[in-house]
This record gives sequence, structure tokens and C-alpha cells, in this order.
Amino acid sequence: PPGGRVEAENATISQGAVESDHAGFSGTGFVNYDNVTGSYVEFQLNAAQAGDTTLTLRFANGTTTDRPMDITVNGAVVSAGHSFPGTGAWTTWQSATLTVPLKAGANTIRAAATTANGGPNLDYAEV
Ligand code: GCU
Repeated sequence: PPGGRVEAENATISQGAVESDHAGFSGTGFVNYDNVTGSYVEFQLNAAQAGDTTLTLRFANGTTTDRPMDITVNGAVVSAGHSFPGTGAWTTWQSATLTVPLKAGANTIRAAATTANGGPNLDYAEV
């Protein structure tokens, strides 16, 4: 798998759809999570070496309600209910960052919605 950036539209999607109706995204679109608990996007990201790394998740949330997600790395929850607050509009994209422990080589990073609102719209993951 590549390091750097992986577009959400190229990741593994469970209960979500690739859409492109809100401008400002990177690549060819973004993932609109289904509005259900447990909907997720899972990325394969490569790390040259093991260690703590900054993970960036670019998102938009056009509501005024937080859309928290559990961030899991290689099966372990690194941030439970990580906040993805309202960004003001679906066309206003922001970066959420957190520190994640990666192993050398391929890493599986999942962002799973923890409320019935589902996740925010998700553009990409980058390490
Ligand atoms: C709207 C918006 C979608 C968004 C959805 C939601 O339908 O157009 O992009 O994903 O709301 O609330 O999840």
C-alpha cells in the first residue's frame, strides 16, 4: 500500500457511498457515511518505519452536531469517539489530526461512526 495520502473514495467502505456533490474535496470525491452507527472507511497506509506518526483525516460536517468516530489502527482503538465537529458547511473541509502508532510496512486504519448520524463526509487519510 502507499504511504502518504489515500483518498477515501479509494479505500474500503462499509455502509457509505462515494459522492462528489460538495466542492473542495481532493481526488475524485469523498465518502458520505451512511447515517448509522458502525459505518466505516478503512485505509491501508504504508509506513517506512515503526513509530508514532501524525494521522490527518480531512472531513466536512455541514451540521452543527459532532459526528464522532472510533479510530482504530491495526485492530486497536487509538482514539474512541474522536470528534468531527461541524465545519459550517458541507463544502468547508477541515483536517482532524491525531498521533497514531504505526508499524513498519502496511497498516490498517479504520474510522468508524459511533452514533446513528454516521460519520462526517471524509476526503482522505494521510500520514
Ligand atoms: C446531506 C449531504 C451529504 C451528507 C449528509 C449527512 O445529505 O448532502 O453530503 O453526507 O447530509 O448528513 O450525512
